[in-house]
Amino acid sequence: MDTLIHSLPNLWPSQLLPRIQARRGFPLNRSDLEFTYLGRNAVFRAIHRLGLVGAEVIAPAYHHGVEISALLAAGARVRFARVDSAMRLDLEDVAAQLGPETKALYVIHYAGFPQPMKPIVDLARERGLLVIEDCALSLFSRDGSIHLGSLGDAAIFCFYKTVPVTHGGALLVPARPRHPQLPKTRPPPLLSTLSHLTGSLLFSMELELGVPARAARNAVKSLTRQLRRRADEVDVAVGTQHFELAAVDLGMSLVAEQVLRATNEQEIVRRRRLHWLYLHEKLGGLRRSPWEELPAGTCPLFYALRVEDKDRALAVLRARGIAAVDFWRFGHPSVERERFPEVEALRRQIVEIPCHQDLNPDQLDRLVLAAREAVREDSGKGGAGT
Ligand SMILES: Cc1ncc(COP(=O)(O)O)c(C=O)c1O
Repeated sequence: MDTLIHSLPNLWPSQLLPRIQARRGFPLNRSDLEFTYLGRNAVFRAIHRLGLVGAEVIAPAYHHGVEISALLAAGARVRFARVDSAMRLDLEDVAAQLGPETKALYVIHYAGFPQPMKPIVDLARERGLLVIEDCALSLFSRDGSIHLGSLGDAAIFCFYKTVPVTHGGALLVPARPRHPQLPKTRPPPLLSTLSHLTGSLLFSMELELGVPARAARNAVKSLTRQLRRRADEVDVAVGTQHFELAAVDLGMSLVAEQVLRATNEQEIVRRRRLHWLYLHEKLGGLRRSPWEELPAGTCPLFYALRVEDKDRALAVLRARGIAAVDFWRFGHPSVERERFPEVEALRRQIVEIPCHQDLNPDQLDRLVLAAREAVREDSGKGGAGT
């Protein structure tokens, strides 16, 4: 059996070593960037920071779900707008949703691909609205020369999807004084951080070494669980659908900051683009990607495949050792699903194929073969699009 191809980049011990980065790129070069434990905490803080408690925010019907929970938990009210089958926000529908209570537009850049910020910002300025850019899936991505997250009144980021940190998010609110009612973030619990960190390091080693590292990982997990119990310390989960109010004021650990500072973002963007383009060269002809090309500056989070039978495609990919991700099958329960048929189709169809910086040429070829097999089986079942 081939080794597992993980959906996220792996953490290696060398990445914990201090490294001098000559020139930091956006958003890490911003002194007003506020680190949070997760991206969802940044969404919550953005609502408070922008004075949007009680206000109505227009958000896209295609979303993860936890960002909507964070908006609601912060006290915003949410109305949804249409997203088309190529994951573009429908600005006409956004305009149609605006009411007297609307105070902000929440824009999600999907998987690194930019939404059209110029008309969005124009519409917002014309109607006196604020813009929040959700770059949870778009760290280091640009639209041409413009960094995603640099045009809105606030931007939120999530680091662990792109960089091998075990947690981490950030909020950028340019040009606004800090809101007095928001407490400063506090460090996350130490044992929880150490447990995630060693788990992550050992997982990377498991991918290389197999069983011995898996045994060590399980032993560390059980040890930290016992220590946490003794110290009466909670584990702060990452990657869930759930918004945890009790964790909202947690910041980022020093270790995660260290890994982040040691990353070479230009290299990450270069490798992700290369991998995406390779996958597209080999798979684009199947006509299963929602994107026809990779725009200049885009830092892709993954390669997307549309399939009719998502469970079957995921089973084929996983049987080939690929940790393909079931992208956003369910949205927030408050969305009126019947109003957004294209979004429902995306939720039913999109499978996420990794294109992260750690992949090597053999793994890319394995991805291509497995994706072709998954599509072949899907077409055999009457799947659309080929
Ligand atoms: C679009 C979007 N926004 C925000 C978040 C929240 O990120 P985090 O998991 O860091 O809280 C996610 C998480 O997947 C997301 O997909």
